[in-house]
Amino acid sequence: MKIVTAVAPVNIAVIKYWGKRDEKLILPINDSLSATLSTDVMCAKTTILTSPDLKENKFWLNGKEQSFDNVRLKNCLTESKLNYNKYIFALILIIFLVKKRCNSTLPYINWKIAICSENNFPTAAGLASSAAGYACLVYALAALYEIDGEISDIARLGSGSACRSVYGGWVRWQKGILSSGEDSIARPIASASHWPEMRVLVLVVNDNQKKYGSTIGMNHSVETSTLIRYRSESVIPQRIEEINKAILERNFHKFAEITMKDSNQFHAICLDTYPPCIYMNDVSHAIVNLVHHYNTYKEENKVAYTFDAGPNACIYLLESVLQEFLSIVNYIFPKPMDIKANDYFKGLPLDQTIIKK
Ligand code: ADP
Ligand code: DP6
Ligand code: CO
Repeated sequence: MKIVTAVAPVNIAVIKYWGKRDEKLILPINDSLSATLSTDVMCAKTTILTSPDLKENKFWLNGKEQSFDNVRLKNCLTESKLNYNKYIFALILIIFLVKKRCNSTLPYINWKIAICSENNFPTAAGLASSAAGYACLVYALAALYEIDGEISDIARLGSGSACRSVYGGWVRWQKGILSSGEDSIARPIASASHWPEMRVLVLVVNDNQKKYGSTIGMNHSVETSTLIRYRSESVIPQRIEEINKAILERNFHKFAEITMKDSNQFHAICLDTYPPCIYMNDVSHAIVNLVHHYNTYKEENKVAYTFDAGPNACIYLLESVLQEFLSIVNYIFPKPMDIKANDYFKGLPLDQTIIKK
């Protein structure tokens, strides 16, 4: 018997990935950029056990067994379109690819596996659970089958955003131009220690599962939004260079402006999707207003909001304003939200995460 456990963090995009040009290979229509949080507040934890006694592969997510139906999987593997159950397809594909890269003489390579994964934060609520979840799965499998080297390309096949969680610090996922997807990989642009004062506050407005998962939401946007094309072709190429520069220069004012504009444009695309897929709610919009009032009062951008595909706010800010901003949030929103303060640059990036064998 062999057992491994891995822990992987979420990443919060400041330039959002939204839309695929290849559904099967998960190739995006635009570059994206994010910071990977530390694992001390929000993370996925995955344990994989392999044993000659296991009769079949098993998968539990947050304590609930998930179907691992191989008969159905066969159908979906023979179809060129990824149209059945995305997560089973991704799971089998990932296991297959990791095994393909490992030393085939490993004595346990043909044993069945049991995977048990848990998130310590809301799943499918727009807080990047798929990013942490699939990065963790691939990382744990890589440890189990003793493979080294690039794994962000395999993580991407689980969930696009997962390829960025494979690295710590500031990470850019380049969309790539090849149809094979070989060049669609994540690369760190700056380490966590580059901007040590940076903090992320996660304001949990609603932890329910969202109505439209990211995969479905972005497919509808690609099919129906006219704005999405303008964004990927005419906005992102310049915007990603600008934020890259702002991060390298530690220019918070500029970084914040781009981050907020990009979040707003992403949600404008959601509204431009037909029928619209609305993720933000009234509380989310109240947070947006609060941040703009605060920045106006400070005569400079001191705080930046960004919203993924859900109503929950991720607030980027520097340590120097954390306490003041937090007390304003607590004052304005009388029913306290679940607030997670992620001191992420003091945490371990994924590549230093402890793996128990
Ligand atoms: P989120 O905004 O939380 O990333 P998504 O709609 O992108 O939401 O993805 C949610 C899906 O990701 C879940 O329904 C599940 O299939 C998958 N997922 C989430 N956490 C894990 C995990 N720890 N291990 C494997 N898959 C996970
Ligand atoms: C809004 O990576 O969850 O969080 O590739 O279909 O699994 P799939 O989608 P996913 O989409 C993330 C969308 C986002 C923006 C981002 O993280 O860049
Ligand atoms: Co996701």
